[in-house]
Amino acid sequence: MHKSYQFTHALCRAPATSVTDGLRATDQGDPDPMAFAAEHAAYVSALRAAGCTVTVLPADEAFPDSVFIEDPALVLNGTAIVLRPGAPSRIGEAAALRPSLIATMNDVIDLETNGFVDGGDILCTDDRVLLGLSARTNQQGADDLRPIVESLGYSLDVLQTPPEILHFKTESSLLDAETVLATPALKSAGAFKGLNVIETVDGEEAAANAIRVNDHVFLSAGHPQTAEKLTAAGYSVKVLNTSQAALVDGGLSCMSLRYSV
Ligand code: GLY
Repeated sequence: MHKSYQFTHALCRAPATSVTDGLRATDQGDPDPMAFAAEHAAYVSALRAAGCTVTVLPADEAFPDSVFIEDPALVLNGTAIVLRPGAPSRIGEAAALRPSLIATMNDVIDLETNGFVDGGDILCTDDRVLLGLSARTNQQGADDLRPIVESLGYSLDVLQTPPEILHFKTESSLLDAETVLATPALKSAGAFKGLNVIETVDGEEAAANAIRVNDHVFLSAGHPQTAEKLTAAGYSVKVLNTSQAALVDGGLSCMSLRYSV
């Protein structure tokens, strides 16, 4: 069993109407809460169709970005690590999520740090955790995360995400135990030693925020050439609309914590 992309469960959080105040690098207009809710419901349905039992937590209006539930926590082998998100408006998401992690995961460990780690900066294979330093994740956070990751049987590789990229996984995702999908920019930063890399097609860089869930690769709509490339490589591609999440720099990976218990 390849635990890095095979999951029995997923934890999601419904988008808050306050998502209109969500963080973004470039303002292209606010997401529409109704449209976001519809895209999120389709995403949850796709997770269920892929074989996951999905828990959807209620929207948390206090945190506009809380639909992006992957950022305040990391799950390894059924153990949740409560992280310390690097954006001031998001740091409280960790404590807000903690009771739900206790209710759903095998175990919960708190990352004790004065630094920062966002889950969006973490890509896991079967035995490696790749952590990209970014504007949201710093060396102190990485240093303090290391013993926890190693105690759970993984090695930790700390890498540098190019400064123009929000999160390491904004531009990369796991396709199978040995293969990632990544933008040429992130690949050329030397992040993926020991792994095969399939590159996104020119102009379709946003496709890199994909997720492998059991037998399927979920890919954002609007990237037909990358979809074709993945299909030709033997992956079963499920296309999902993420137009509203994209307005606040979110994508497919950020909207769930995928795990097995
Ligand atoms: N809006 C997602 C983030 O910047 O954290």
